[in-house]
Amino acid sequence: MADALQLTAEEKAILAGEQGLGAKSAMEIVVALAKIYGAADLVPVASAQISGVSFKNLGQAGLEFLQEWAARGGRVRVPSTLNPAGADLQAWREMGFPEEFVRQQNAVIAAYVALGVAPTLTCTPYQAGNAPAFGQHLAWAESSAVAYANSALGARTNREGGPSALAAAIVGRTARYGLHLDQGRQPACVFDVRCPVRSEADLGALGTLIGQQMRNRVPYLGLEEEIPPRCDLKTLSAAMAASGAVGLYHVEGLTPEAKLGFVTTAGLPVVTVNGLEAGYRLLDGTVTEIDLVSIGCPHASLSEIEAMADALDGRRLRTEMWVTTARPIREAAAAAGLVERIESAGGKVVADTCLVVAPIAAFGFRAMATNSAKMAFYTPAHSGLSVRFGSLEQCVEAGLTGRWQP
Ligand code: F3S
Repeated sequence: MADALQLTAEEKAILAGEQGLGAKSAMEIVVALAKIYGAADLVPVASAQISGVSFKNLGQAGLEFLQEWAARGGRVRVPSTLNPAGADLQAWREMGFPEEFVRQQNAVIAAYVALGVAPTLTCTPYQAGNAPAFGQHLAWAESSAVAYANSALGARTNREGGPSALAAAIVGRTARYGLHLDQGRQPACVFDVRCPVRSEADLGALGTLIGQQMRNRVPYLGLEEEIPPRCDLKTLSAAMAASGAVGLYHVEGLTPEAKLGFVTTAGLPVVTVNGLEAGYRLLDGTVTEIDLVSIGCPHASLSEIEAMADALDGRRLRTEMWVTTARPIREAAAAAGLVERIESAGGKVVADTCLVVAPIAAFGFRAMATNSAKMAFYTPAHSGLSVRFGSLEQCVEAGLTGRWQP
């Protein structure tokens, strides 16, 4: 049978090793995936976002894999950014991160830097200098960022794995299939949302109940009420990505491809959503005593940090509170006096990491309150903590009293 995958002369030359061993290994990965998924050709990508950064997840074998790739001369040829690492690389000592873990974490980041990847260490690259344009093809791996880039920005990326995003960055191309194609971006089901969605937690609950039903397919949402301005689509993106591997969704009148009339819903099954309780039930636990509050999953925007500073002014936390964000956002928040306001209430504004990829067991926390559906979804399995999930106001109250108020 003839090979259905068409490669350009340059791609064939890379595969033959004419641009070095590092590029050859990368092209072998990209071509293998293209064949598995039946791609007709490769598509140039504008940027890559690479996951698999925390030493907690990568381990020694992962570190050596990266070091070997760099030693073989692998270098990215498109702007490439990194997901969060396992520690705040500036404040790790005062926060109590284990020194040996941070040494290994720094070795991972050094390997990525040797490969040419920018050590941005955030899951919201679109808030930190890597915002794709409408229609641009990407090779992004962070699942919440994939859903955000496809849905909120109208860029085109599949849910790459960490190694495949790195391989795509090194050859500047990825396999053209799935969400890179017009037909792959068409919705499979309409969700007619008739209940109000009034907070980021409501958005997370909605995303979770839709994600559970869609499993890797594209939903189209019709909302009866507008989402409040303080709620960011990154919350919805993360919830759908975590609960159902959704890489793209459309929202009527809101997301760019829905606004442009690019998608069609004629003849699709319609699911009516009358309430969000099913989403809350999937995420919220029963524990009452809280010793940790997590805000900033995906990484907090400047306006979310400002909302936290406002909520905490003149008050004193009884629990730990981590507000996780990208380093440039933390710097902007510090310049605006927001970090100081949160810290004087006893909270921490933490950069470079998050509570899913940090070695949180070393800190001895038992029960977390969070307003993030993704954090609530992953934490019990990843870190063994009990979780309460609810609004920002409930999380602040839990931080002030040490108790969860339903
Ligand atoms: Fe980001 Fe960590 Fe949440 S990587 S999306 S803050 S689980």
